[in-house]
Amino acid sequence: MGFERVASVTELPDGGRLSIEVDETPALLIRLGEFFYAIEDLCTHDGQPLTDGPLVGQEIKCPRHGARFDLSTGKAMCMPATRGVRTFAVEIRDSEIFVSDEPAKAPAKAAVTDQPVTGETTNETSAPAAAPEETAAQTALAEAAAQDEYLTALREVIDPELMVNIVDLGLIYGVTALDGGQVEVEMTLTSPACPAGPQIVHQARMALERLESVETATIKLTMSPPWTPDRMTDEARDHLGIF
Ligand code: FES
Repeated sequence: MGFERVASVTELPDGGRLSIEVDETPALLIRLGEFFYAIEDLCTHDGQPLTDGPLVGQEIKCPRHGARFDLSTGKAMCMPATRGVRTFAVEIRDSEIFVSDEPAKAPAKAAVTDQPVTGETTNETSAPAAAPEETAAQTALAEAAAQDEYLTALREVIDPELMVNIVDLGLIYGVTALDGGQVEVEMTLTSPACPAGPQIVHQARMALERLESVETATIKLTMSPPWTPDRMTDEARDHLGIF
């Protein structure tokens, strides 16, 4: 398909999003300042729609297990997702937003005159976001930093059979920070009968509880969805010689 009109620039405020379809694929149109992005609305980890995922800088976070995707490239920025989402090219024509099923090469930028309300043409960008939005963005950034800290700690735990850390193996399905320094991890094993399972679970708990910010870590094992090799990162594949 070529470019098709999906909305007007004025329908989408800064930080806003719109569910659209691009060639029968559910997609999200997102505005950050003057830039517009369109990505596939489906987390590649386990199929969760990204519709309600918080924005973290130029990334969107999956509301289910916390994988993040770059809005510009679609690239998966952290576990548990290892594959990126599709991006779609966006064009702004006369204050109207058009989207095509071709991959995005760059975000579309709205002309300054498309900003709602002002009435005068100016070369300056719109006013800074309101305080509540800034607070939400700061919270999202703090959450992302905490996730990175947890995953860095969990990377210290090595599966003794494959000699690859459990994060890059794709065994971690989600890490949730609760009140009072409690952290809950949902993870799996490469097979239900994995003999190293108890050792891996114990080491994962210890790795997290060594962090200053963590009081207690609880590990919940699940076999649903079951682990499959495509959950591994490229680094893990390289290590195991899988191409
Ligand atoms: S479904 Fe999105 S991170 Fe698991």
